Amino acid sequence: RKKAPMPTDIKARKGGAPLVSLTAYTTPMAQMMDAHCDFVLVGDSVGMVLHGLPSTLEVTMDMMILHGQAVARGLQQAMMVIDMPFGSYEQGPAQAFENAARLMRETSAGAVKLEGGQHMAPTIDFLVRRGIPVMAHVGLTPQSINTLGGYTVQGRGAQADILMQDATAVTAAGAFAIVLEKVPQGLADRITAQIDIPTIGIGASAGCDGQILVVDDMLGLFTAFKAKFVKRYADLGAAGTEAVAAYAEDVRARRFPGPEHVFADEAPARKATK
Ligand code: KIV
Ligand code: NA
Repeated sequence: RKKAPMPTDIKARKGGAPLVSLTAYTTPMAQMMDAHCDFVLVGDSVGMVLHGLPSTLEVTMDMMILHGQAVARGLQQAMMVIDMPFGSYEQGPAQAFENAARLMRETSAGAVKLEGGQHMAPTIDFLVRRGIPVMAHVGLTPQSINTLGGYTVQGRGAQADILMQDATAVTAAGAFAIVLEKVPQGLADRITAQIDIPTIGIGASAGCDGQILVVDDMLGLFTAFKAKFVKRYADLGAAGTEAVAAYAEDVRARRFPGPEHVFADEAPARKATK
């Protein structure tokens, strides 16, 4: 059994072999990716892909903790990072510390992730100095969807300098890695070259130090919409719909259960009935 990497190990991978990561929300999903991912993120995307919520803003601390505990039970080799949900850290460093400590204590996550650039730097610094490793997240930050005005590409034109300053500020504050979401490729490459912590791209660039995707997106389980940056590696949603239709037909035709699925009235002589 390989030991799970620490945030310091992830940070040390800067400029090396690409870091592999996906989101996970349940034990079986975590087991599926444990041997293949350097870290797994319990993302607040859980609200949209598993709970049918319209955005990530409705996600609560209690939801994050339940899913974090489920994911932790499925991981042995990969590090676990957990998202701080909307409203649990923005008020200030003290609020952020209290909630980050609770997330780590109750889920045994190795690190937390929070959204925001320069304005979050003091909070990141506060957490890191008190023992909480922080992954930053800039570019498209879905918890700010109502002020951003939509899920559009971030950091084009004059915005590019601001995004570069955001990345620099969270790095100086002590973040061990940073997610770049939906930013132009050239800017993602410049940020990756500029800062000394790994950049984790989602809709960014193959030149980032690592990549992340929402697992339900890449497996084709979440099909309400597909972002341009999503590559579908499977079509499990369609496979599931077909399976359910086949089951419904079998039940209606009395083809299920078959002889192999039912129990005899007398216990078999040799093997115990299961
Ligand atoms: O919640 C999430 O899934 C995320 C990733 C997209 C980075 O924050
Ligand atoms: Na998130």
